[in-house]
Parts: sequence; C-alpha cells; structure tokens
Amino acid sequence: MCGIIGYTGPLSAKRVLLDGLSQLEYRGYDSSGIGFFDSDFSVKVIKTTGKVARLKELCRDVPEEVHCGLGHTRWATHGGVTQENSHPHQAGRVTLIHNGIIENCHQLTTDYHLEGKLRSQTDSEVAAWVLDALYDGEPLSSIRRLIPLLKGSYGFCILFSDHPGEIYAVRNVSPLVAAYTRSGSVIASDLTALIPYTRSYTVVPEGFVVKLTPYRMTFYDEEGNQTNAETMEVNWDTDSARKNGFPHFMLKEIHEQPEALKNTILPRLTQGLPDFKADGIGDELFRECSRIRIVACGTAMHAGMVGRALMEPLLRIPVQVSVASEFRYEDPVIGEDTLTIVISQSGETIDTLAALRLARERGSRVLSIVNVKGSTIARESDYVLYTHAGPEIAVASTKAYSVQLAALYLLLCRMALVRGKMTREEGKEFVKDLLDAVPAMDAMIGQSDVIKTVVRPVVSRQDAFFIGRNLDYAFSLEGALKLKEISYIHADAYAAGELKHGTIALIADQVPVIALATQDSVFSKTISNVREVKARGAYVILIAKESAPVETGAADAVIRIPDLHDRFTVFPIAVVLQLIAYHASVLKGVDVDQPRNLAKSVTVE
Ligand code: AGP
Repeated sequence: MCGIIGYTGPLSAKRVLLDGLSQLEYRGYDSSGIGFFDSDFSVKVIKTTGKVARLKELCRDVPEEVHCGLGHTRWATHGGVTQENSHPHQAGRVTLIHNGIIENCHQLTTDYHLEGKLRSQTDSEVAAWVLDALYDGEPLSSIRRLIPLLKGSYGFCILFSDHPGEIYAVRNVSPLVAAYTRSGSVIASDLTALIPYTRSYTVVPEGFVVKLTPYRMTFYDEEGNQTNAETMEVNWDTDSARKNGFPHFMLKEIHEQPEALKNTILPRLTQGLPDFKADGIGDELFRECSRIRIVACGTAMHAGMVGRALMEPLLRIPVQVSVASEFRYEDPVIGEDTLTIVISQSGETIDTLAALRLARERGSRVLSIVNVKGSTIARESDYVLYTHAGPEIAVASTKAYSVQLAALYLLLCRMALVRGKMTREEGKEFVKDLLDAVPAMDAMIGQSDVIKTVVRPVVSRQDAFFIGRNLDYAFSLEGALKLKEISYIHADAYAAGELKHGTIALIADQVPVIALATQDSVFSKTISNVREVKARGAYVILIAKESAPVETGAADAVIRIPDLHDRFTVFPIAVVLQLIAYHASVLKGVDVDQPRNLAKSVTVE
C-alpha cells in the first residue's frame, strides 16, 4: 500500500525523504512525491507517476538546506495513476499525504462544496480541503475537528504553511511509526524507512495527534491533552532489510527460512515441549475452546489451511478456515466457545483486521500469529504469537509462510497435550520432527539449480496446475499462488482426485503439472493421477520423498525431498514451490520483488 515518510531536523530533508521512499518501494506503488518547506519557507510539492528514480531526477535542484518535508509512494485506490492523483496534495494552507481510504469522501465533497476546487479524483485531496476549511491557525484543534468527520482508514502526515518546520500526523487503522532521534524527528508507514535513523520507535496510537519538530516529538490524546506513548525497540538491523548480496529480496528470504524457523520455535520449547508462558498464552485458552476458526488472506490463509488439515483430525473439534475478506459476510457461528486464530505477516491487512474485530464482537477470543511487532492486528488481539522471521521485503511471502506454519505446529502440539490427545512422549517426538524440518529446508535450498532446470519448460506456458491429495493438496495451494503472483503464469491448485471431474479437459501437450506426492497413505492414488495427466501430454514435475517408489518415466522431472514424517513435508515442499516460482519469474525477466499490481501489505478492502 502507500508508503509514507516525514522528516524535520538538521539533515537534508530531500535526502532523508528520497532515501526513505526508496526503502518503501517494496510496498508496491505507481507514483510518488515530496512536499517541503523551501528556503523561503513556502511549501513546494514535486510529484510524478512512475518510479522513485524519476522523482529523484525531478528533485535534483531542491536545495540541501531544506530541512522539513513529507514523502509518499502511492498505490492507486481512488482515482487512476496520474500526476494530479499522486501525493502530496495541497489545499490552501494544508499539504497532506495519506495512506488508507476515506469512505465518505463524496459526502464531504458535497458538504464542503469542493466540486470546483478538486484537481484530483482522490479522497486524500478531499480530506486536505476539509482540513483547510477547518483550519483556524491552530493545527492541533483543527485536526481534532477533522477526525470525527472522517469515515474509513487513514494515516495522515500534514504540513501547515504558517507552521514551518513542523509536521502533524494522525492515524486510524493505517500504520504510522515515529521517532525523535539525534538526527531530528522522523515518521513513516513502516519501520523499514525508520531504521537507518533509530532503534527506538513509537507506534502512533490511533486517534492521537503527533507533532514533530526538529527538537522533539509530542503526542496529544483524543481530548487534546499532551501525553506519552509507548516506545519500542527495533529488533531488525539495517542489513536485515537489505539484500545482503542476493539478487532479490525473495531469494534472500527463501534462504533465511531455516534460521527463521529456529528463531520462532526454539524460544518456545521447555524440556522439548511447546511452552507459551513467555508469550502470555495460558493453557486455559486451549482447554476451554470447543471450536477453532482460522482467518487470514493469501499466503497466510494457505498456512491456515495446513493448520486446519492437521488440527481437526488430531484435536477432534471443528476447525474452519475463512478467507478474511469473506468472513464478515459469512455471518459466522462463533462465540465464547471459539478460539479465532488470525494470521498475518504484516499485521496490517485491513481485511484480516476487520475479521478480527468481528470475531471479538461475537465474544470469541483472538490469538494472532504476526511477524511485525506492535502492528495493528497484534495490538488488537487478546493473545499474540510473534513469529521471528525478521523483515520480509519481497511482496511474495516466503519465510513468513514457513514460520506461520511453525507457530501453528507448536500451537497444535500444545493444544493436543492440554486436551489429552497427545502424551508428553508423543509431544517430544512431534517437536523433534518439527525441528528436523530445518535441515530439510536447507537441503532443498541446495537444490535451487536443479529446480531452475526443471522449471524452464514451464516459463513459456500460459497455465500450470498444482495437484495433491490430503495434506499435499493443502500444501499445493501456496505453490499456485506463488507461481502466479510473481511469474504471471495462470496457476491453479487442485485436489488430485478432483481433476477428472472437469479440469483434466485443460490438460494437453506440455501443460505443466506440479504433482505433490509426499503423503504415504495416498501416494499410489496420487501417482495414478500423475499417470492420467501424463497420458494426456502434461509436463509433470513430481515432488516425492527420497524413499518413494517412483517408476522411471512416471514424470518428466522428480524432485526428491528428505524422508520426513508426512505431517512435516510441507517445510521442504515450501522451499521447492517457492524456488519454482522464483526461477520462473527470473527466467521470464519480470520484477520478482515488486510484481505488477501487488503490494506487500494490503491496507485497503
Ligand atoms: C503473499 O505471497 C501475498 N503477497 C499475499 O497473499 C499476502 O500473503 C496477503 O496479502 C496477506 O498478507 P499478511 O500476511 O501481511 O496479512
């Protein structure tokens, strides 16, 4: 979604803002701009469609002596990709950048007679003009009068032309983090743009107004009283957010998975069994629920599908997975007896946040699995299980998926122990098998070149199919999403037994089929399905265990994974599926880390 950065202090604001926008490019965008107090204290705006590199060109003549300004990367929601629609927006004495959606902008346009004033089609410009109409020379009270008029999500950073050197900000749902540092005061939509300047930061509390000057950062609560806000420590280093020599963030993050898995699992083991005391999650949460609902989007939802496929058979209670954006329309049967597990890497996905709020309204207790500390979803959950994958920059989620799985496996094991579905010995065996996934992932990372070779015939195709049975089907969902979102090859995941009920009509000569056959109990049936597609000319990549009895010629390529217990094959498989997508994208020459139309954190509904 949109990227935001604001700075005021002794450094060159041009440099801070443009560097910050470069750090935020990963969020996905289509235009960018900066607004700043020029050396004559007038507010100037430079903005353009296209990449930040183009904006830097246009800012070449901005003096280094500029010390206060705002920067924005726009991911179009209201209004197309045009220069007028890009941010910052200027409205009288107000210059504003915005991340989010103002749902009642049309009503405000009418109420404030803005029809003749608007130069863009954006909700953000409407907000700027309304604020200008309310502005009486006092920023704080003017912003306070604006807030109740708005419906929807916003993260605003604002300059008032008669308050040089000062930045004001306020948020509702959309994220904002801020810090006062020796280099001045800085605010951004996420930590990636902040960590070059600070290791301590504050998540701007919703509804609070923050005022930044070169010498201090001040928070004002809903009543306008000066107040304090919690400071947190960054647990990422700058390098983590850089490529460390890899050609793409995605490949770096694929390689980081074994370490991420260990960092997520090991701190939660006591005597070889899962222990969530340090996370503030007590066993009563697992003992008292009689049903589980998992809610998430995209890759996080696919992790939830794997969790469900394991939980229900073992715990013997209903476990359902809902797509977050549909959850609110399902009028779900959930209540105090339901444990809702919300999964989100960014902790800012608005569909998932809305689902979380609905679950809580219905009396369900919410446990979230989140990778970004202090994110909105984390702060609104009853319990949080942080994954420790470090910053995930590539739009395509990889290490976040595997640590979400690890967290779900730990939860499953703890729940089974608490509910008498697993003995301590079985629990220790389960955890040992889980830890065996770490070297297994390493082994598949080592197969990257082999995988690149078998992917070549896929690259020229329009369509590809991922098939599997039982857990392999749940695993295949993520493979299809990865391939389509970064290589633009249309891919679908199918229960292998379902193909013959229609889809097999699409299997023709050289149509790629990636078949997962790692579940012993259904191995022979899956191989039969492989034969069916092979007989129709498919190009088959078969993923099977080291010891699986695969006949010569059964597939065009066989990728062997280590002999793990069936329940744990998802971890090496995940690496294979990620590398299939990664190499397809690289071979097609498209943007691996910032695929078209996509954003890293989807903060619009
Ligand atoms: C993952 O590859 C996708 N980019 C996307 O589906 C993502 O998983 C989804 O938007 C959910 O994001 P979250 O985990 O930050 O909530």
